[in-house]
Amino acid sequence: MNSVAQQHARVLSGMRPTGRLHLGHYHGVLKNWVELQHEYQCFFFVADWHALTTHYDDPSIIPDSVNDMVIDWLAAGVNPGEAKLFIQSQVPEHAELHLLLSMITPLGWLERVPSYKDQQEKLKEKDLNTYGFLGYPLLQSADILIYKAGLVPVGEDQVAHVELTREVARRFNHIFGREKDFEQLAEEAVKKMGKKAAKLYKRYRIAYQEQGDQEALEAARALLESQQNLTVNDRERLFGYLEGGGRIILPEPQPLLTKASRMPGLDGQKMSKSYNNTIGLRDHPEVVEKALRTMPTDTHRVRRNDPGDPEKCPVWEFHKVYSDDGVRDWVRDGCTSAGIGCIECKQPVIDTVLMELKPFQERAAEYEAQPDLVRSILMEGGEAARDMAQQTLNEVRTAMSLQYR
Ligand code: TRP
Ligand code: SF4
Repeated sequence: MNSVAQQHARVLSGMRPTGRLHLGHYHGVLKNWVELQHEYQCFFFVADWHALTTHYDDPSIIPDSVNDMVIDWLAAGVNPGEAKLFIQSQVPEHAELHLLLSMITPLGWLERVPSYKDQQEKLKEKDLNTYGFLGYPLLQSADILIYKAGLVPVGEDQVAHVELTREVARRFNHIFGREKDFEQLAEEAVKKMGKKAAKLYKRYRIAYQEQGDQEALEAARALLESQQNLTVNDRERLFGYLEGGGRIILPEPQPLLTKASRMPGLDGQKMSKSYNNTIGLRDHPEVVEKALRTMPTDTHRVRRNDPGDPEKCPVWEFHKVYSDDGVRDWVRDGCTSAGIGCIECKQPVIDTVLMELKPFQERAAEYEAQPDLVRSILMEGGEAARDMAQQTLNEVRTAMSLQYR
């Protein structure tokens, strides 16, 4: 992890408001967020501007989608006491940083982000030949950098966007982190650490720069992190000075790859709204039961007496997620010997899914009944986010000579 990013071990992730979430989101993303919030300072936000890049022709669905999605986060256990939850457009600092970053971002970098052409191809019915859509990944970079987030939990498809973010941050630091009196300022900052720490820092710095000693680099970073009486600017200088560059104003984030969700859809493909194979987290139990009861099974098992092969059956994928070894053995034996019927086989899955959804749905109902509570959670999260965003933006403005007084 990059030095300064580690210092600010902060997690940030966003989701476009696509309405109510399904089991795939729960197993793929939300459970992960819930764990992260105990370990890191987390910022989770609704990317409503990102939704506009593709849904600008019908934005009226966005507000309800935002609300439904946040209720699902809360019901899944994302805790506003631990993580900051907010709506992107309520922190307009993201937009200013996006604008400022756009000044130094070569067009080619955006044009060659794979999702740019992919999505244009995929969403042929939409005109995505817009300035906003081209800027999608850069807006995402602003989302991340404005909190100096070190870790960004994302799926495989978003890794290229985090990579772009790293490149933009590097370029930013390269252009704006160079002060004409940098070396002198850095040397002065070294002195401020006190004799002993200063001596260590110098020794580590030489070991790293002259011998490429990685351990010395790590040790020096840890040393800087433990220094109480350094200003933010001095700390940034010393992180940069250590590695031989200028100030590191915007640290480079790392993607935190969310393990591909093993959650299968009702047809055996990955669960996704675009495949129409989902189980919604707030679907009525009867709807869930019916969906599972009627889901396809091994197509070779036409009659009850035909033996089947679990490996060719979508229901088996559910057993892999939800059943213990005992039940799985029962399925494997019963299916291959035609000892059990498919409805019988599905029953334990139905029971477990309903059991998983029940407490979730109860919590969701509580939040649904308290729209003011949800609103105030988002307000408070937004205010905390703004405080932090404004700090970064001030540094960025100053670095770009935009501080007038
Ligand atoms: N583009 C992301 C997605 O479609 C959503 C997003 C917007 C995001 N800004 C972000 C994710 C910042 C992580 C960090 O899933
Ligand atoms: Fe699928 Fe179970 Fe039927 Fe076998 S018995 S085909 S695993 S549903």
